[in-house]
Amino acid sequence: MRLFLGIVGLLAAGFCRAAAPSVSVISNTQLDAHGIYFVSYDGLVSVNSFQESAVLAFGNWQFAAWYTSSGAAVLARRALPSGAWSTLQLPHNLSTEDSHNAINLGVSPADGKIHVALDCHSTVMFYTSSVSNLAASGASWDASQFAPVTNTLGTLNIGTEITYPQFVITPRNSLQLVYRTGVSGDGATQLAEYTNGIWSNVGSWASATGTYTAPDGAVSTLRNLYIHGFTYHGQRAYVSGTWREQNGAVSCSSLGLTNHDTVYFYSDDLGRTWHNSAGTQIGTSGSNLVNVNTAGIIVDSLDADHGLMNQESQTVDSAGLLHIIISYVPGRFTQCVENYETDRPAFARAFHLYQSANGTWTKVEIPFAIQSVGRSQIVMDADDNVYVFSPFVRVVTSSKETGWTDWTIIYNGTAAGLNAFGEVTLDRSRVSSANIVSVLYQQNGTGTTTPSPVQVIDFKLNG
Ligand SMILES: *[C@@H]1O[C@H](CO)[C@@H](O)[C@H](O)[C@H]1NC(C)=O
Ligand SMILES: *[C@@H]1O[C@H](CO)[C@@H](O)[C@H](O)[C@H]1NC(C)=O
Ligand SMILES: *[C@@H]1O[C@H](CO)[C@@H](O)[C@H](O)[C@H]1NC(C)=O
Ligand SMILES: *[C@@H]1O[C@H](CO)[C@@H](O)[C@H](O)[C@H]1NC(C)=O
Repeated sequence: MRLFLGIVGLLAAGFCRAAAPSVSVISNTQLDAHGIYFVSYDGLVSVNSFQESAVLAFGNWQFAAWYTSSGAAVLARRALPSGAWSTLQLPHNLSTEDSHNAINLGVSPADGKIHVALDCHSTVMFYTSSVSNLAASGASWDASQFAPVTNTLGTLNIGTEITYPQFVITPRNSLQLVYRTGVSGDGATQLAEYTNGIWSNVGSWASATGTYTAPDGAVSTLRNLYIHGFTYHGQRAYVSGTWREQNGAVSCSSLGLTNHDTVYFYSDDLGRTWHNSAGTQIGTSGSNLVNVNTAGIIVDSLDADHGLMNQESQTVDSAGLLHIIISYVPGRFTQCVENYETDRPAFARAFHLYQSANGTWTKVEIPFAIQSVGRSQIVMDADDNVYVFSPFVRVVTSSKETGWTDWTIIYNGTAAGLNAFGEVTLDRSRVSSANIVSVLYQQNGTGTTTPSPVQVIDFKLNG
């Protein structure tokens, strides 16, 4: 009897265990044979991991945005799942060779308008939106369907120092724009909202103020919060991020990154008031902003000596618990990242940082080198399996069943010959309906400014 149970146990533990979640390539289509190509801030302007969104599905259609070789902003549309891409050029050219001046798409579900925010880095933002229902109607795909490009959000003046606009659909079917004002190391996060066809200001919710003292005693009095995402699940908006200090002395090296700590807080009223993970109210947008000295928001402590990346990624599992990807150089390689642009490709690892139902946070190193400066994106399927999409279109997975411990490289775009430059940007909007993730990437250039192809590769998760 004991022997029999032992064999059953062995079978259950070993032979019968599900394999790590898989992915399969459904298609790989070209958006543009001649995407604009120049490297700045270690990235390409059309493919930043943090874009929300460069590729975005809405109903039966999918949209994509990038800059072509002339610098013109291009929008594309295809019928899902496999229609051909049609393109249009907006009457706007990239204003400067800065990779942060990305194009971001959103759809307001109430009126079906497509919104486009682009070409800003601590400057004015450019914005346009389409006629009503263009996102769903399949009406002619033509630049005349879009309003003239403005530096305001409709009638809302958002100022002249804007960066990282991202569109988010709320649980009440409105659209929000999350963005930063100010500059790196001295900036505030902001929120605007589109309801009944009108943009209005919700307000700033995380400020530059407060005092950070590094372990070596250096003091910094200004910073900005870089967010890993602004993610709705149920009625809750989840925000995690890292602080970027202005005073370089908080890092052991002037070529390091002054990012430190991972923080988390949430809002249950569409970004008006904010709470830490203990449930304590810690902020009110527009009047009492979260800052570096706000109590109870650090979920993983790390000083500014480790090349911690900003704007990585996050998602929420089926139980409403947050999962974050952060990355940095583990201490076993060095206790001082002297140059993040060389030390990260050599040593950086991504970490899966997540909250359990009892409130505790667990951080697990994903056991593969990133081999890049760049960021990774986390996706979860309906069974809470994790898929991490890394630079060069590499996919690493782990299963809920093993408590996210069976990390496996399931797809390696380098080995597959994709020749992706580095960071990739995702459309997660079809995960819940079709278990499909679309990944926009650009091929490596053959020179410093030679245009290269921009592609969308579709993966089926676990199927
Ligand atoms: C964009 O640049 C092209 C030249 O490459 C020029 O013909 C066009 O007028 C420019 N468009 C705008 C909106 O400035
Ligand atoms: C919280 O839950 C996690 C996951 O189940 C477990 O590993 C940890 O020991 C628990 N911590 C406490 C304090 O109960
Ligand atoms: C992916 O494949 C490339 C080329 O074969 C290899 O150099 C690289 O180490 C692989 N990446 C990982 C994380 O295994
Ligand atoms: C991209 O191409 C450059 C030369 O243009 C080369 O130095 C670099 O290693 C290539 N990167 C990848 C990831 O292949």
